[in-house]
Amino acid sequence: VIEPWEQWLKETLGGMEKENLFRIPKVTKHGSSQTLFSTNDYLGLSQHPSVVDAAVSCWQSMGAGTRSSALIAGRSEHHDLLEQDLALTKGAESCLLFPSGYAANIGLLSAVADQDVEIFSDAGNHASLIDGCRLARSRGAQVAVYDHLDFDGLQALLKRSQAPRKLIVTDSLFSMTGEIADLPRLVDLAETYGAALAIDEAHASLIFGDQGGGIADRDGLSKRILFQTGTLSKAFGLLGGFVATTAEMKALLFNRARSQVFSTALPAPIAAAARVSMRLGAKASEPRRRLKGNLEFFAKETGLRVDGPIIAINLGSPARATKASSKFEELGMAVPAIRPPTVPENESRLRISLTASHTESEILSLCRSLTDLGLI
Ligand SMILES: Cc1ncc(COP(=O)(O)O)c(C=O)c1O
Repeated sequence: VIEPWEQWLKETLGGMEKENLFRIPKVTKHGSSQTLFSTNDYLGLSQHPSVVDAAVSCWQSMGAGTRSSALIAGRSEHHDLLEQDLALTKGAESCLLFPSGYAANIGLLSAVADQDVEIFSDAGNHASLIDGCRLARSRGAQVAVYDHLDFDGLQALLKRSQAPRKLIVTDSLFSMTGEIADLPRLVDLAETYGAALAIDEAHASLIFGDQGGGIADRDGLSKRILFQTGTLSKAFGLLGGFVATTAEMKALLFNRARSQVFSTALPAPIAAAARVSMRLGAKASEPRRRLKGNLEFFAKETGLRVDGPIIAINLGSPARATKASSKFEELGMAVPAIRPPTVPENESRLRISLTASHTESEILSLCRSLTDLGLI
């Protein structure tokens, strides 16, 4: 690498290492004896034979790649059908697929932004919403960040906003803390102040609600929320993102969201498999029942409050979190240390995710180790 790049690179990487923030790419071996409490595969559907079969048979009939963006030639009937299913589950008129959840969030927020818009964003939102806000700002929108889950603070900001179009943006189930936003309160605030609401149900879709529509579905609020975004990469066990909204708004996003227009469409086999995941994610399904049982078992064994499949144990410094994570690794368990920039300074933590695939004895080992290591 030529100077001055070499010097800069050395200093930057050295700084990361010193602060315990340097990561190396690691292979997670399939079928290894390690128990993974580190995935977002909450229902175990990435390994479900029906999901895998749907993808494989579609791949065999349609070929490997998508060949083009969705606007040109990248869409198939599988995309249409999945969008219809998602819209139905989300209680929305329509839905638009994106190549990933990240693409859905940045595409949405940048596409609806202009100088008449003010966005109100929770400080704990996922990076894809934060980056979407940054893009929205570059299109002239104002962005106000309210303290995490501080709805009084949000109300004060809404009250004084003069923007013709207001948009509140929040995760529904926060990915790094496991907390659930009070959607009834947010919907009330949005309606009182004439704001639209965008919720990211990345971690809640197929986990909450009778049809697996997420927290909005569980709380009966879907019809009062303009944008419900999500991903196929968590409980669906696949890859891809979506925005459920009105038909007209979908038309706008299809034409204007740059992560839709300038990126290759999701492969059709993913869409075909996601429809199977949706059937397996309805409330009474076997994977949903197993996950519920595992969450109850973990809560009983640890005495911790468990609202969903993500449990965070806050340890403060990156060094403490990485040390605890290494201890688990020695014990044959993957429990990741989450550090800045994913979480704020001094809020490094262990992030445990429980899935339908864990056995009671695996969960018991986890609980015993949490106690033995003095973490709970
Ligand atoms: C809350 C939230 N939103 C969006 C995303 C992005 O989804 P994807 O991995 O499909 O890009 C993630 C996951 O990384 C997430 O946790």
